[in-house]
Amino acid sequence: MANIQESSRGGFSNKLGFVLAAAGSAVGLGNIWKFPFEVSDGGGGAFVVMYLAFCFMLCFPVMMAEIALGRKTNKNAVGAFAENGHKKWAPIGILAVLSGSLILSFYNVVAGWALGYAWEMFSGNFSVGQHFGEFVGNWHINMATSTAFMFVTIFIVAKGVSGGIEKASKILMPSLLFLILALMTYSLTQEGAMEGVKFYLIPDFSEITFETAYGAMGQAFFSLSLGMGALITYGSYVGKRDNMVSATSMILLADVGIAFIAGLMMFSFIFSQGLQGQGGGAGLIFTVLPGAFESIGPILGRIIGGFFFVLLSFAALTSTVSLLEVPVSYVVDEFEVRRNRAVWIVGFVIFLFGIPSMLGNGTVDFFTNFVHYHGAEKAVNFMDFIEDLASDTFLPLGGFLVAVYTAYVWRGDKFKEEVEKGNPEFGNSLMGKYTIFALKFLAPLILGSITIVTILSKFFGIHLIG
Ligand code: PHE
Repeated sequence: MANIQESSRGGFSNKLGFVLAAAGSAVGLGNIWKFPFEVSDGGGGAFVVMYLAFCFMLCFPVMMAEIALGRKTNKNAVGAFAENGHKKWAPIGILAVLSGSLILSFYNVVAGWALGYAWEMFSGNFSVGQHFGEFVGNWHINMATSTAFMFVTIFIVAKGVSGGIEKASKILMPSLLFLILALMTYSLTQEGAMEGVKFYLIPDFSEITFETAYGAMGQAFFSLSLGMGALITYGSYVGKRDNMVSATSMILLADVGIAFIAGLMMFSFIFSQGLQGQGGGAGLIFTVLPGAFESIGPILGRIIGGFFFVLLSFAALTSTVSLLEVPVSYVVDEFEVRRNRAVWIVGFVIFLFGIPSMLGNGTVDFFTNFVHYHGAEKAVNFMDFIEDLASDTFLPLGGFLVAVYTAYVWRGDKFKEEVEKGNPEFGNSLMGKYTIFALKFLAPLILGSITIVTILSKFFGIHLIG
């Protein structure tokens, strides 16, 4: 059977494999760890509405553009531009490789927390929720868990696309979905849960500020693994005749759906435990969930809590794998380094760069109070700085550049031609027309202005709006 897997670069065995792996990349800590605390800090329902609007109206077209570019060129995030005949645009790919590497450096640390929490829950240490600060300040444990995590990521990426990534996604993602649905059902029955649901679902539009808007935008990109070449890279392994439109829709729906359910679960728990209004920040799920598991019962709570964090770690793993794949495929394709060697070297360097994120939670003062943005009240730690830079700034910037590139350099009709290979109706459909319109006008305008205003207001305290 002549299948794409037989080419030397490897490939997904079929469309379902691609969809699951890309959904595996999208679904991760972004949905379950980051989304709830962003919603909480961003004022609740109003943030959710903006996030959904960004996902469907702006991110969808940019996702299509990334996947199409990857499939057309069969290349990594940097090589894709040159292969398409526009070498000058390759710096977009370099920015993507940089963003992916920066994100992986701190993501791996948070994934280590999830792994550590699985252990805590299985051993029945529910009180760890009240001692989250001490937990993240204990760098011995964090070093051990994040080393383990990076090690497994490297191992899977070294095994190649269909061998490791695809197989793992197929079993673990459905299990996670099942567990979150069960927990959501349980959380909704708790006393006070409805207040949480109201906070989450009823938008208070007076909460909308420019900060909320760019937070929602950054979150949408982060959660969809967009703006950093992951989808160019994964797209390069997709079969030529697959229907990209339906594949992209499925990935988007899976990602948004899981974030939405996770939010419902979290806000019911937060309000039923009276923890609202404490501005959870990055520690939100880690402070709230142990108490929720404890309420399930001493034995069952341990088991469910333990499995929850194990599955969360697996969800994170399918994301770290895609994060590492971006710089690795770049190094393999462009510098002709053997895959195995590239994976180990790149993984190790990124791991080292993550150490300051680990030490910035109280262990080392320099990394804890790392930068003081102009006009800000407090200094931010190293991890928050990298997050602000890579996820809130570089990802929308990457998305902006991909949209401009696709619409004006590669050009709309060529892009359409590529998509039509698996979906001949695309060009004439409403979705097709909208996608091209969004890439030409909407995405450059909104993403471009949000990026500029974000940089000015976040880092330099210059507030042009709001
Ligand atoms: N989308 C992943 C998550 O939500 C994180 C990620 C970002 C993965 C960018 C790949 C690229 O957890």
